[in-house]
Amino acid sequence: MALKTVNLKPKVGTELQAPREEFLSGEHGGKIRDLLEERAVLIIRGCNFNDEEQLQFARGLGDIQALGGKQIFKISLDPVANPGAAEYLKGSLLWHIDGAMDLVPSRGSILTARQLPATKEGNTETCNTYAAFQDMPLEEQKKLESLRVVHTMAASQRRTYPDATEEQKKDWERYEPKIHPLIWTHKSGRKSIVSGVSADYIEGMDIEEGRALLKKLDDFVTQDQYVYSHEWVLGDLLIWDNTVSLHRAAPYDPYCGRLMHRCTLIGEEAVA
Ligand SMILES: [Fe+2]
Repeated sequence: MALKTVNLKPKVGTELQAPREEFLSGEHGGKIRDLLEERAVLIIRGCNFNDEEQLQFARGLGDIQALGGKQIFKISLDPVANPGAAEYLKGSLLWHIDGAMDLVPSRGSILTARQLPATKEGNTETCNTYAAFQDMPLEEQKKLESLRVVHTMAASQRRTYPDATEEQKKDWERYEPKIHPLIWTHKSGRKSIVSGVSADYIEGMDIEEGRALLKKLDDFVTQDQYVYSHEWVLGDLLIWDNTVSLHRAAPYDPYCGRLMHRCTLIGEEAVA
């Protein structure tokens, strides 16, 4: 059977429809990967995959990252349900790219909803920076393509912890800053914007001027027309392409019970 697709918004987000076993067999993997890069975020409603099925589906799209031997991670802001990781995940409420300080950021991630609050908070939001860049005037595109951005841990954290202690600040400094081109030209020819919360300043530009430009850019790419905000229903699956998008979780009460299971596809190309 063919894979059926329904675009959720004109410039971002597509729902995939096929029998459950076809998603698990990997037969639509190639098509899904292509769609992912173009549409930035894909949804399968109500597939109710368990961990093993989620991994099986993911293997049809690429290699899976294992950290500490684990391929499935629990995403919850609740420090009791998710000891050790809840603090770190607070940063996920701001627009960002995963692994922005890596040479090869992850290709994407796959989330399944396992517990949801009755309050309907905590949408997962993705903006398509490939589509946003395409919509910019040529002259503006050219200007942006010449810029390089310094990504730092301090930039990633300071908005979440405006009253950080000296100890916290020292800890952020331990991470080596990473310089990326502002515009990522992919092997496929697509161009996307590498910005978000980790983008601290623009190389060779006055710091405040560079930050103002980065803010303007993030405001542009997160306009409603480029953003798909997924209101979760239990059993849904969402995939975002980390290489052509920014993403965030809309704010939610850490104790509301929201729990996602996530696996991550290993990155395939360096930012260039
Ligand atoms: Fe993230």
